[in-house]
Amino acid sequence: MFIKNISQQVGQEVEIKAWVYNKRSSGSLTFLELRDGTGFVQAVVAKNSVTEQVWEMAEKITQESSVILQGIVSKHPKQEDVYELQVNNLSIINLSVDYPISNKEHGPEFLLENRHLWLRSKKQWAILHIRDMVETAINEYLHSVNFIRTDSPIFTPNACEGTTTLFSVPYFDLGEAFLSQSGQLYIEAAIASVGRCYDFGPVFRAEKSVTKRHLTEFWMMDAEAAFVEHEENLAIQEGLVKAIVKKCLDNCTQEFVILERNTETLKKVLEKPFVRYTYDDAIIKLNELGSDIKHGEDLGNDDEGLLTKDSDVPVFIEKWPKAIKPFYMKIDPENSARVLNDDLIGIEGSGELIGGSQREDNFDLLLERIREEHLPEAEYSWYTDLRKYGSVPHSGFGIGVERAVRWMAGIEHIRECIPFPRMVNRLKP
Ligand code: 4AD
Ligand code: MG
Repeated sequence: MFIKNISQQVGQEVEIKAWVYNKRSSGSLTFLELRDGTGFVQAVVAKNSVTEQVWEMAEKITQESSVILQGIVSKHPKQEDVYELQVNNLSIINLSVDYPISNKEHGPEFLLENRHLWLRSKKQWAILHIRDMVETAINEYLHSVNFIRTDSPIFTPNACEGTTTLFSVPYFDLGEAFLSQSGQLYIEAAIASVGRCYDFGPVFRAEKSVTKRHLTEFWMMDAEAAFVEHEENLAIQEGLVKAIVKKCLDNCTQEFVILERNTETLKKVLEKPFVRYTYDDAIIKLNELGSDIKHGEDLGNDDEGLLTKDSDVPVFIEKWPKAIKPFYMKIDPENSARVLNDDLIGIEGSGELIGGSQREDNFDLLLERIREEHLPEAEYSWYTDLRKYGSVPHSGFGIGVERAVRWMAGIEHIRECIPFPRMVNRLKP
């Protein structure tokens, strides 16, 4: 039996296979707090209703021991919707000795060093579940609007998002390969086969950003669609973010309680269209709000906070200066110094959630941009090919999964939003 189904088993004899995450004793009663991955329940061992051998075993059990228990499910005498297991029999599969993480406060370095064990804590369990729900929502939403999953390679010969943040690895006789920063360029090829597609996987950024929002390895979902232009691209992104919020609200009640996440702010996100600023207007607005950002600069963390602080919904910043954005973005036909792109900035300090754009679909203009950026032309010949054989207007975007999880779960630091974080100063475990 799985603990999540316990309410359907009141009065029945069941067997639970679980770990003991906490234990209390009071005289002739031992309370074992159990978790089996699907949920949490308290088991009660009463000295006078079990054999002496079972009682001795209950006394011996330690935190994080793995156990099999048989007993009768009962309703908690005082709490609504809470159930217990009245134990008849139990056996220890593995007795855990000196588990290093206790219920007292531990520092972040200690916990990160013990990430392989820290994952078992209730809070981390809740975050893992929310992460799964975010990923499920992304897959479901994209299929509902006719995208299929195609995936992209991780070893690549060229850069997608600028050459300064590439990790390189030796690659047999072919010289150097780079770990992918985004699969975008590859799914741009795949749309000519399947129309709309997405990839979902780890990407790598060799940026020395030590912040609460940066990982060196993170999961990205890149989506790309043929015949979709800038406006529709934004609509798909908004639909996706709302689908993620709704899916989590519908399915993560227990997780939100564990994380003490106030969900009122999330409910409001579903009620209104997202706010939109052009980059030019965003800079004016930021200066009015007291930021010293200059036109032509990228937004900092504080700027993103300022721009979203009074908003109930995420904020799109569209049409950025061409000079600070990648080569593949399409020039705005109304202003050749701007590109048809967007960054979606989340509320509640969640920062940039999505980066997207319409892509340059004209062969000559794309080649010009590659040359302007001094990118190795030959390495991109396959990509420019796409503009030679049935090129179409197309757009896409990428969402950082851990950024979305961090926002949904209301977690301060992104390192808790991926099972095993990779950061500038951490590669272990
Ligand atoms: O804005 P970015 O760099 O966009 C791209 O890579 C495009 N090629 C995507 C596309 O159009 N298909 O990255 C997309 C998102 C960001 O908005 C952010 O959520 C996340 O990826 N991200 C990071 N997340 C964690 N750690 C980092 N170092 C991140 N860098 C970007
Ligand atoms: Mg970006």
